[in-house]
Amino acid sequence: MKEKLDSILREAQQIYYQIKNSDELENFRIKFLGRNGLLSQLSENFKHLTEEEKKEIGKYFNFVKQEILKLYSEKKELLTKKEKIIFDFSHPGSQIKLGKKHIINQEIETIQKIFFTLGFNIEEGREIVTENENFDSLNILANHPSRDLWDTFWLNKKSYLLRTHTSAHQVEYLKKYNVPTKFVIIGKVYRHEATDQRHEMQFHQIEGVSVGNGSNLGELKSVLKIFFENYFEKKNLEIIFRTSYFPFTEPSLEIDLVCIICNGRGCNLCKKSGYLEVAGAGMIHPFVLQQAKIDIKKYYGYAFGLGLERLIMLKYDIPDVRLFNSLDLRFINQF
Ligand code: PHE
Repeated sequence: MKEKLDSILREAQQIYYQIKNSDELENFRIKFLGRNGLLSQLSENFKHLTEEEKKEIGKYFNFVKQEILKLYSEKKELLTKKEKIIFDFSHPGSQIKLGKKHIINQEIETIQKIFFTLGFNIEEGREIVTENENFDSLNILANHPSRDLWDTFWLNKKSYLLRTHTSAHQVEYLKKYNVPTKFVIIGKVYRHEATDQRHEMQFHQIEGVSVGNGSNLGELKSVLKIFFENYFEKKNLEIIFRTSYFPFTEPSLEIDLVCIICNGRGCNLCKKSGYLEVAGAGMIHPFVLQQAKIDIKKYYGYAFGLGLERLIMLKYDIPDVRLFNSLDLRFINQF
């Protein structure tokens, strides 16, 4: 009987190594430890033994049973650990949602490309500038009434501020690039004002500057005409100059675009006026050129400032400027 028990134990040990899943483990249990399993079958023979033999074989029987139970519980533990990390290759994968660029950034890239092909260097500037950059260097002196044109976010006891316009970088880049030069600065600007459908506290401007021997209002007109025709993907757009006032340009201009929808006849987009206000501009004031150490006897130039959100709203017929910063995916995903 001892030999029989030995061969059962050996068989159990061999099978133990082949068990790969819980079904096989269950078969193992039934085969060796089950009610009709090999061990209980063998215990039937106990009745033919003497008391003496029963004692001895009984001990060995229990030892073998314990060994097989140990094998069983070891394997069970191993399998539950393994099954937890099993990867189900047939399970459908979860889709990765890809993000994309915000409409504002998409349009900035388009606009940068157009001005780049027109020979302009591309700049961004900084959102925090000095009081001198934003006002003084642009002839907006301390007590000048035009400082009231902008309500400003001041930082650090009034020597730094969030730029109210991209013109704040005119002098800096005129110094960086030797004249003759052309550059555009595209970036965010801040004004402390109440928001509504047409006004935001933060928005983007496109500042264009050209200084040289031929940088006159004729060139400004053709540069803007080519820009608008490319940006709105329409031919033969017309531009109108109106006189205006900025302390850093002389003469100063307000630039209107003949309505891109109705061609001046009057429609909803232009509010029946026939034209759209799109930019402030002018010939750069000699004071500003002198700040950049430019010889005003030799060189002159123009500057213009466009509102980016306004252009995008015209292009895509967007009714409210606040939508751009709303984080509303129904709006953002349209572009
Ligand atoms: N910086 C002016 C504004 O914010 C626009 C402007 C730019 C006007 C360049 C003239 C020349 O309104």
